[in-house]
Amino acid sequence: MARILITAALPYANGYIHLGHCAGAYLPADLFARYARLRGYEVLFLCGSDEHGAPITIAAEQEGISPQELVEHYHRANAEAFARLGISFDYYGRTTDPLHYEFAQRFFLDLLHKGYLEARQEEQFYDPVANLFLPDRYVEGTCPYCGYEAARGDQCDQCGAYYNQLELRNPRSLITGKPPIVRRTWHWYFLLSRFQKVLERYIEERADQWKENVLQQTRSWLRQGLSDRPITRDLNWGVPVPLPEAQGKVLYVWFEALLGYISITQRWAHQRGTPELWQQWWMEPKTRYIAFIGKDNIVFHTLMFPAMLMAHGGYILPDNVPANEFLNLEGQKFSKSRHWSIDVRDFLADFPEEHAVDALRYTLAANLPETRDADFSWRDFGARTNNELVAAFGNFVNRTLQFIHRYWEGRIPTVPEHFLQQWSQLAEGAWKGTTLQFGEGWSPDERTFLEQLFRKPPHIAQLYERFRFREAVTETMALARAANKFFNDAAPWQVVGDTPELAARALFICAQATGTFAVLFAPVLPFAARRLYALLRLPVFVGDPEEKSGDLWRRATQPLLLPGHLLGEPCLLFAKLPEERIERQRAKLYHAVETAMKSSASAENTYATLEDLQRLGLRIGRIIAAEPIAGTRKLLRLQVDLGSEQRQIVAGIAHRYRPEQLIGQAIVVATKLKPAVIRGVESQGMLLAATTAEGDPVLLAPVAEVPVGAEVR
Ligand code: MF3
Ligand code: ZN
Repeated sequence: MARILITAALPYANGYIHLGHCAGAYLPADLFARYARLRGYEVLFLCGSDEHGAPITIAAEQEGISPQELVEHYHRANAEAFARLGISFDYYGRTTDPLHYEFAQRFFLDLLHKGYLEARQEEQFYDPVANLFLPDRYVEGTCPYCGYEAARGDQCDQCGAYYNQLELRNPRSLITGKPPIVRRTWHWYFLLSRFQKVLERYIEERADQWKENVLQQTRSWLRQGLSDRPITRDLNWGVPVPLPEAQGKVLYVWFEALLGYISITQRWAHQRGTPELWQQWWMEPKTRYIAFIGKDNIVFHTLMFPAMLMAHGGYILPDNVPANEFLNLEGQKFSKSRHWSIDVRDFLADFPEEHAVDALRYTLAANLPETRDADFSWRDFGARTNNELVAAFGNFVNRTLQFIHRYWEGRIPTVPEHFLQQWSQLAEGAWKGTTLQFGEGWSPDERTFLEQLFRKPPHIAQLYERFRFREAVTETMALARAANKFFNDAAPWQVVGDTPELAARALFICAQATGTFAVLFAPVLPFAARRLYALLRLPVFVGDPEEKSGDLWRRATQPLLLPGHLLGEPCLLFAKLPEERIERQRAKLYHAVETAMKSSASAENTYATLEDLQRLGLRIGRIIAAEPIAGTRKLLRLQVDLGSEQRQIVAGIAHRYRPEQLIGQAIVVATKLKPAVIRGVESQGMLLAATTAEGDPVLLAPVAEVPVGAEVR
């Protein structure tokens, strides 16, 4: 039996998963995993949080919490979002797992002993205020080639040049805005250049199976020639380099995160009480390993990771890396900073119903950016829900079940024995790819529809096997449309009176088709499929972990419901989405981006006006209560008396002030800021504070007695 290991890129635990991530890697991986399980393959589908790296320490700093607190929060939130979205991981792990530390360190030492690592001196930008060597994405400056003033650390967006960050002119740190200094340091380099030839061979051996976009990027790197890569960083958050001379250094996040796939398998095996089992998934050549990722991760998975695995030896290599391009949102790139995004958890807050989750999965699947960038729009989501799920698939199932209840008391109508026998032969013939020989007595409409009902499942299976999910899902829906047409043309309501045996044949066929749909739609609509199986009173197989369905996909074209089988009470699988609900979401999205744009536009005007100052609503307030916010290091929840009212304010000052020291203190409050929710607590304003040289806050207070509520101008 085929054994398939499936991983999806480990998402950074410094933000919420959005729809673009889902379309890039997680949904395609889940479609494939569910399909493979329904084929009876042995599947292990793993993912987890990528919890290290400078972006995490910087985000934590900005939120006033520790990196551990930050990743704890996002790890939980993202694990929950995936679960509610029906992404069927066998296990969702994390790279702060002690097993991961141990494994990554051992792996590093192994490469070191085998001579694949080398220590090299280098100079790098260092931010003396933030006490940090600056990763490329945190430096900006003037391009050494074209003079563009907002060039990034290693690349210019204007002229496209790549360079070493030290070549930037007028560099500034994006963390503190200060010019960095140049500091000497040293790092371990992975000698990737030595793998040029073997990687070329590895890629070309698989080229006929791999996607064009993946090959292109990978080959272009190979053509430029691979260079050795530093795999350590000077940082205090990460997996420590396990050598005494490497104090203060950690493994580069990309190096250890890739190893997370393996350590997460180890954790999964541990939890099942079979700690050695991970090896069969990573070391036995019979395992096929498929790594799902977005396009920004390609070379790490097609070059870096295979080279690491080869260097160590004993591991299987990715068999395929079906990376997707990007999903856009209403015609523009996703951007968290511009608020042009839909986070999964926001979607779930507004659409908690399972059928809406299915509708989202379906809309994303039908728009997967498999060969080029694709687009998600709210109106398309509404149209696909209403015209395809409700009007085509849902309607067909509902009409079929209603009719059988009305005329046969919910039991599958009887058809002649030879009819059943021929059915079985034809269906099996379609899997073998033979021409279908319909005998006597099939009407032209029956032949046309059954030809599709038998041929499409093997065809759709081929599409899944070749990672063409978008087409697989579109073809499945096309079959549902054909079924609807068959029902219409058969017009059983007209013939049931005079020739009930004709109506019985039609409804027998329609009932089998609903059974086929339960299986074929299960990868994309697992929640609806589950309910459909229940309506049909069939055992439920939706491609969840641990199911033992055998090759149900192949059995799905055989009659699953025999004459006399009793069906459950019909009920609707999907609900129509009213236009207002869609328009409300559009308004919300466009409003969020407008607000963000306005504030950045006003920042471009160099001078502030008096009105600008007044708009902040600065007033004197008095702190009347203060308490720490659980799970944070820096945050306090304050109650502030403003005379005419009382406000709750969250302030990141707990590391400088004890709560009891603040009670009764007069302070300056910005009262007209938009309320914000910080770590689940609403903050209705902001305290003004000065910043010390160390970056600590010092609260501002009036130097003489003034009444609370007094205006500050
Ligand atoms: N955290 C990375 C991202 O979200 C992906 C890491 S994939 C891994 O882009 F394999 F390295 F974990
Ligand atoms: Zn330039």
